[in-house]
Amino acid sequence: MRERRSNLGNRAVLVIDDNEAVHTAFDVLLSLHGARVLAAATPEIGLEILAREPIDLVIQDMNFRREAASGEEGIRLFHEIRRRHEDMPIILLTAWTHLETAVELVKAGAADYVAKPWDDARLLTTVRNLLDLKFARSEARRIRDERRDAREALAETFDLRGIVYESEAMHTLVATATHVAHADVPVLITGPNGAGKEVLSDIVQANSLVRDHAYLKVNLGALPAELIEAELFGTEAGAFTGARARTGRFEAADGGTLFLDEIGNLSGIGQAKLLRVLQTGEFERLGSSVTRRTRVRIIAATNSNLRQAIRENRFREDLFYRLNVIELEVTPLGERREDILPLARFFLQSGFELTPEAERALTRYHWPGNVRELQNSIRRACLLSREHAIDTAALGLPATHYSQPDEPAVDRQAIEQALDRANGVIAHAARELGLSRQALYRRMEKLGIKTEAARPPSHS
Ligand SMILES: Nc1ncnc2c1ncn2[C@@H]1O[C@H](COP(=O)(O)OP(=O)(O)OP(=O)(O)O)[C@@H](O)[C@H]1O
Ligand SMILES: [Mg+2]
Repeated sequence: MRERRSNLGNRAVLVIDDNEAVHTAFDVLLSLHGARVLAAATPEIGLEILAREPIDLVIQDMNFRREAASGEEGIRLFHEIRRRHEDMPIILLTAWTHLETAVELVKAGAADYVAKPWDDARLLTTVRNLLDLKFARSEARRIRDERRDAREALAETFDLRGIVYESEAMHTLVATATHVAHADVPVLITGPNGAGKEVLSDIVQANSLVRDHAYLKVNLGALPAELIEAELFGTEAGAFTGARARTGRFEAADGGTLFLDEIGNLSGIGQAKLLRVLQTGEFERLGSSVTRRTRVRIIAATNSNLRQAIRENRFREDLFYRLNVIELEVTPLGERREDILPLARFFLQSGFELTPEAERALTRYHWPGNVRELQNSIRRACLLSREHAIDTAALGLPATHYSQPDEPAVDRQAIEQALDRANGVIAHAARELGLSRQALYRRMEKLGIKTEAARPPSHS
C-alpha cells in the first residue's frame, strides 16, 4: 500500500490537450513518479488512443481550439469517454471561471477537476485518489461477482425457495441451512421480526430428506396457551366440555416437518410435552391415556432471547439444548444493507422503478421491521404512487429513523483541500464534499478553520 501511494507504478495516463506545453509538463511530472504519459492534441485522437490502449486515467482540457472558451468541447468529450469507458477516472483541467461546469461533471463520480494553472502536489494527490478509487471499485465489483457466482452455484445444487440476498452474512446462513437440511436433527432459527426466519425454515425443509412429506406450521404466539397443547397433540372426544376428537399437528406431520414459530411462547406444560416428543417420539392426545408415536423433524423459530428466558426460568434449558442442535441466526436487515436494494427491486410490482433518491433513502433507513417492513413499504408505494418512478415521498418512511447521518465524515485535511481547490468559495467546497453549506460552516467552526472570502488559488 505504501508502495502504491508513493509511486504511480507504471500506470498509463492519457493527457488530452491542444497545448503541447501542457503535455510536456505532465510528462515530466508524472513520469517522475513512475507513470507513463500518452498525449493527444484533440478529442478524436484521445478517443482513438482510449480505444486502442489500456489507459488507467485521463487528464483532459475543456477547450481544444484557441478561439474556443465555452468548455462545450470538453463537456462533450467527458460524456463520450464516460459512455465508452464507464469507470475511467477523469481529471478535468479547468479555468477558475468554469468551475461550476466542472463541479457538475465531477458529481457523476470517478472524476475530479484541477484548476489551471495547477499545483503539482495537489494534482498528484488527485491522480492517486482517483486511481485508488478505481482500484477500490474494481475490487468491490470483483467481490460482488464472486458472491454472485457462489450464490448461483448454491442455487444450482439446492432449492433456495426464491430467497433474495447479496450480503455475505445471508450467503453464509443460506449455505449452512442447505448443508444441515438433510440431517435428521432439530433446527432453531433465531432473529428479529420479519427478518426471514420462515423463509429459512422453508429452505431447510425443501432440501431435507423428507421434503416430499408433510410440512406444517404452527404459530405458538398466535394461540392462547390452553389451545396450544390441543393444537400440537390433538384431543380425544370429551377431553373437555364440547371437545371433539381431533388430530394434533404432531400426528398430522408424522414423517415430515413441523415448523414451530414463536417457540418462546410455549407454556411450561407445553415445553415438558414437547421435550418428551423430542426425546422419545411419544405423546398423548389431551384426554387420552393412549400413547402415540410420531417421527417429526422440528424446526423452531423465535425472535426472543431464549438464553435470557432460561436465566429467568421461563424456558427449559434441557428443551433449549434439544432444539438448538443447529442454530441459524438471521441477521437484521439493517446490518446487511447490501440486501436492501435487491429485495426492494424484487418486491416492486412490474413496471415500477425506484428513483435514485428513493434508493438512497431505502439504504439509509434502519428497518426495525426488517424485510417485512421493506416489503410493505414497497407494496404500499406501488399501490399509491401515480408515477411509475417511485420517489422518496411515496415510500412513506418515518423521517426520524435514519441510522446513518446524511453527512459524510470529512476531516480537517479534506475540508482545507476542498476549500483551497474551490478558491475559498464555501458553496463549491461544500458541494465537492457532499455537504450542505451550513454543515460545512458548522464543521469549519468546530475545527477552527477560517476562510477569507476568496483566497487566491495557490499555484506552483
Ligand atoms: N431474503 C428474502 N428474500 C425474499 N423474501 C424475503 C426474504 N426475507 C424475508 N422475505 C419475505 O419477507 C416477509 C417476512 O419474512 P418471514 O416471514 O420469513 O420473517 P420472520 O422472521 O419469520 O418474521 P416473524 O418473526 O415476524 O414471523 C415474508 O413475506 C418473506 O417472504
Ligand atoms: Mg415468521
